[in-house]
Amino acid sequence: MSGAMDIPVSLATALRNARHVAVLTGAGISAESGVPTFRDSQTGLWARFRPEELATPEAFERNPQMVWEWYEWRRKLVGQARPNPGHYALARIEQHMPGFTLITQNVDGLHHAAGSRNVVEMHGNIMRNKCFEHGHAVDRPDDDPKPPRCPRCGGRVRPDVVWFGEMLPEHALQAALGAAGTCDVFLCVGTSTVVEPAASLPFTALARGACVVEINPAPTPLTSRASYVLTGPSGIILPRLVAAAWPPTG
Ligand code: OAD
Repeated sequence: MSGAMDIPVSLATALRNARHVAVLTGAGISAESGVPTFRDSQTGLWARFRPEELATPEAFERNPQMVWEWYEWRRKLVGQARPNPGHYALARIEQHMPGFTLITQNVDGLHHAAGSRNVVEMHGNIMRNKCFEHGHAVDRPDDDPKPPRCPRCGGRVRPDVVWFGEMLPEHALQAALGAAGTCDVFLCVGTSTVVEPAASLPFTALARGACVVEINPAPTPLTSRASYVLTGPSGIILPRLVAAAWPPTG
């Protein structure tokens, strides 16, 4: 990729003429904001930590303090992060579109921070909390104990994210499936496309005849099936895609 001319004209036209664009993002879109991904071999969180010790309900029951503190550390990373040009480019696409759904697996809130409005958070949000027992929302948990206690029921407070083995929020799943089934262009950005049910969304869109575009520096299970593959970092490619679809005037 070395310039706006690298975006195929047919793709720029498809995007400009689309009525409903759906986007699926994963950790890769936030990599350029300094938020670590999960599966990159050197820097990914799952290269350094074991998900079954940190991101399951059983892990929380076994060692709530360790899990809480790990999430506190990730919150600090996310709290320092700012959106990058990839997040802003997606917010720009939404402004041009009659219909737009941004489905994200990320819990970092950076799409909202960049100005995106119709965001579906499939895996929750790391800045929110709820109690482990009943799911009561807890706005401002105390600093102590770790984890804090729910003011309503006294249960332990946990981050409001989806852990392995847990169900996705039903409204988020339905919104994501609906968008994948009705969009005419689907952008799959910065995800390894292996964690279900999100991983199936681009294939659902393909089966419905949508133009499916992958944006990722590395290949994934989608690469050989995508209508277009734009290889490289999303912070570089997405702004070029926007410039190609809606060339600056003047
Ligand atoms: P992964 O870590 O599995 O994949 C990150 C993807 O981003 C890889 O395909 C990288 O090649 C790509 N990537 C790296 N740098 C990039 C850049 N600058 N621009 C674009 N892409 C880049 O992350 P996810 O696919 O998001 O689940 O993982 C899915 C889920 O697995 C996460 O939501 C999380 C995790 O366990 C839960 O926490 C429930």
